Amino acid sequence: MSQHAQEVSKRRTFAIISHPDAGKTTITEKVLLFGQALQKAGTVKGRGSGQHAKSDWMEMEKERGISVTTSVMQFPYNSALVNLLDTPGHEDFSEDTYRTLTAVDSCLMVIDAAKGVEDRTRKLMEVTRLRDTPILTFMNKLDRDIRDPMELLDEVENELNIMCAPITWPIGCGKEFKGVYHLHRDETILYQSGHGHTIQEVRIVKGLDNPELDQLVSDELAAQLREELELVRGASNEFDLELFLSGELTPVFFGTALGNFGVDHMLDGLTEWAPAPQPRQTDARQVVADEEKFSGFVFKIQANMDPKHRDRIAFMRICSGKYTKGMKMHHVRLGKDVAISDAVTFMAGDRSHADEAYPGDIIGLHNHGTIQIGDTFSQGEKFKFTGIPNFAPEMFRRIRLKDPLKQKQLLKGLVQLSEEGAVQVFRPIDNNDLIVGAVGVLQFDVVVARLKSEYKVEAIYEPVNVATARWVECGDAKKLDEFRRKASTNLALDGGDNLTYIAPTMVNLNLTQERYPEVEFHKTREH
Ligand code: G4P
Repeated sequence: MSQHAQEVSKRRTFAIISHPDAGKTTITEKVLLFGQALQKAGTVKGRGSGQHAKSDWMEMEKERGISVTTSVMQFPYNSALVNLLDTPGHEDFSEDTYRTLTAVDSCLMVIDAAKGVEDRTRKLMEVTRLRDTPILTFMNKLDRDIRDPMELLDEVENELNIMCAPITWPIGCGKEFKGVYHLHRDETILYQSGHGHTIQEVRIVKGLDNPELDQLVSDELAAQLREELELVRGASNEFDLELFLSGELTPVFFGTALGNFGVDHMLDGLTEWAPAPQPRQTDARQVVADEEKFSGFVFKIQANMDPKHRDRIAFMRICSGKYTKGMKMHHVRLGKDVAISDAVTFMAGDRSHADEAYPGDIIGLHNHGTIQIGDTFSQGEKFKFTGIPNFAPEMFRRIRLKDPLKQKQLLKGLVQLSEEGAVQVFRPIDNNDLIVGAVGVLQFDVVVARLKSEYKVEAIYEPVNVATARWVECGDAKKLDEFRRKASTNLALDGGDNLTYIAPTMVNLNLTQERYPEVEFHKTREH
């Protein structure tokens, strides 16, 4: 195998999907602890900071600031090199989450085992389905009283339409949580509470019939385990690598992130089974990681990474070839070559300069406003990676300046923030309004605060009569022209000058769609 192929085959790039509070942050800490990236877990997120306060901008900023520094983490585990991409926890930033999911090769689904499948997990699983991303599952919080494990598996299978293959099986839960039995290794790994901040020395009992097991976990629990396993082996699926890789089956692990128990079993599974960097589709052809020539796409842009550097960073997933410091890349949308000498990598929360990076890795490019989400970089070839979506916003406000002389700055700020994916902006073609569209209400606060701190403009919102937006396309230029004239009161241009229909009501949208059958109305737009 060539050196390049070896580097590629080592990479595992994944993200965590879960409902808020299921334990994503805690698992991230423990994963990093195993990656030796943090000596002592407990520093990823400011705790007890009212993380879910809806409109407290300061808290938001704090959380954002902290989550940003850990938004990509790379660490070695077993013989693999793992990239963990963080996704914003708050659902108002779900667009960012969706796009991050286009940059990974597998996902870890974390479920609060006391609660089972929750809303947001359902939605995120739908997104992973678009690309058949392989999914691993971690049933968390076994140190609490959880629901019946068999029932949890049933729920995942029925609600998320994915087969479950338990790899470990829990022994008791809550105060009685004793550990897990590993079905593939035929051994029981015993849990000790109170060691969540360290990598534990674990006690292992070989074999299910080993009498030591009865002594250590109690006769009753050992008997129950044997009984349950008989049932599990009869009723549930066995792990099958192909079904896992096609997203049809998920290996399931049980444990407690807080107690740092079971996370390593999941990581073993991830490094052994999850795919190395996968091929990526472009508008011209498929790009394979082993190709010599460099390519990558930008899936996220973030401002103020570090209060000391007030720059914006474009996060790029490398799809093929190799990044080396100082190399020239072709910025396909602009048709321009750029020399990149100061890309950033993200080792355990610290920014450091990358000398080289391979497919599956994420690098950060300093961005002074020329890079947009969805941009492709190559070594000359003019293709564009596809599948990086924008979602039609569901909330709208008119934005107005306190000082009307600063209209230009306002527009510039809004267009830049929309390129970043922080918000969407619409300019009606019939008047001079500026309408801001968001997927979640918190985005509105963030935009006003950032306009003030980064663009020095003070803006306020007013209600606006818009219920929904659709991107408009029509193959027939004449029909489009007619539509433009007749529906102009409801037409606007978005931040990238794409024609959009902004509907005052859903009824209006439906009627318009009926009236103009040749016009296509899209709920998502690809960058
Ligand atoms: P999130 O990022 O998915 O939103 O979840 P996070 O890790 O922040 O965890 C949410 C809460 O659940 C936290 O409690 C965390 O300590 C707790 N938690 C995570 N894993 C486990 C587990 O295995 N067992 C138990 N019992 N709790 C767990 P919190 O009260 O919100 O925060 P804190 O003040 O306790 O830190």
